[in-house]
Amino acid sequence: MLNKIFFLTGNKHKFEEVEPLVYDFGFKIEMLPGHKLEIQSDSLVRIAEYAALNAYMKLEKPILVEDAGLFVEALNGFPGPYSSYVYSKLGFEGILRLLEGVEDRGARFESVSVIVYKPCIITATGKVYGTITEKPYGNRGFGFDPIFKPKNSEKTFAEMDIHEKNKYSHRARSVRKAFQKLSECIKLSRDRESISLKYL
Ligand code: IMP
Repeated sequence: MLNKIFFLTGNKHKFEEVEPLVYDFGFKIEMLPGHKLEIQSDSLVRIAEYAALNAYMKLEKPILVEDAGLFVEALNGFPGPYSSYVYSKLGFEGILRLLEGVEDRGARFESVSVIVYKPCIITATGKVYGTITEKPYGNRGFGFDPIFKPKNSEKTFAEMDIHEKNKYSHRARSVRKAFQKLSECIKLSRDRESISLKYL
């Protein structure tokens, strides 16, 4: 039987990206919107860890939080941890406007995944480097997908299906890393338990 973890998100695109990744590690996720407390911070790690621990203390269920941001080089990393707010106010069109006439189109997405699965608390990060296109391409995905083209790809994220996006994406990288660490942590805690039982 697969072990269940509650994914604190109301974003069905994120859910669809993460769902196939966790099966490989023997887990399944259930979408749990409305429980993610977002603190203001310059650090995605702090934001995600706070949200995950806060939800765990309230719900006492296994929790996954994934937080991401777009960091544009010519804008000194803006919008970064404020990506969600900036997207809701300006959309990807706002980023294209800010970059009008700018030659340096370098950008990266960063993702932080935090899992609280007793007794393990896991944090993992993932990054993908690429460029901001001159105009939007594609209509899949969400957020800044139509204007972000990862390195070594001819397509933007919005031109890829989920399987293809997962080959490149910041989210796939942090989620895979987090579940790898979780599997190791669970094994270690079981080994410890059996050793202590043996010597009781
Ligand atoms: P969140 O706080 O993790 O939901 O992400 C913040 C914002 O970054 C979202 O509202 C999106 O606009 C943007 N974002 C995060 N991840 C992605 C992605 O994979 N593709 C496109 N935009 C993203």
